[in-house]
Amino acid sequence: MISAAKISERVRQLGEEITRDYAGRPLVLVCVLKGSFIFASDLARAIDLPLRIDFLGVRSYGVGTDTSGVVQITQDLSSPIANEDVLIVEDIVDTGLTIAHLIDLFRTRQPSSVKICSLLHKPARARVEVPIDYLGFRIEDKFVVGYGLDIAEKYRNLPFIGVVENT
Ligand code: IMP
Ligand code: MG
Repeated sequence: MISAAKISERVRQLGEEITRDYAGRPLVLVCVLKGSFIFASDLARAIDLPLRIDFLGVRSYGVGTDTSGVVQITQDLSSPIANEDVLIVEDIVDTGLTIAHLIDLFRTRQPSSVKICSLLHKPARARVEVPIDYLGFRIEDKFVVGYGLDIAEKYRNLPFIGVVENT
């Protein structure tokens, strides 16, 4: 669906946009595991700001392709985020339930700001409205893998975004 070259061009643009918007202020990049580990590492290198990187483990899917609707934190941040600018980096916003939950959770920790950067967005499946401040690509309602995204833990290492057939 999206080639490695297209992804890298878009990541470069997002990095420039983020660099411009935060204008030299320090930023905490929160990589939402596992899906965004590749996107976050490429994006981090495209951002020219004093960065701190932290990781949050989240699980909302079972072994199939349908969300359970229950967002489980499998690993928390390693440091507080109070009075810091936070950018949550997601692989994909599908129903929006995960991001909505994370925004609520983070607000309780009193950061200066919380913004969202997602590589992909499937608007057709939205169940809750979430603000996506930086978006890579809007895609149609197909289950995709690669560049960090999986199906039952497979295909995360594909360098491109591909569509899974027969799910
Ligand atoms: P949401 O809570 O429904 O927005 O789901 C977000 C999470 O579901 C993402 O971070 C992914 O881990 C997973 N997900 C949703 N759609 C896909 C897909 O097409 N391929 C792989 N994972 C997906
Ligand atoms: Mg994910």
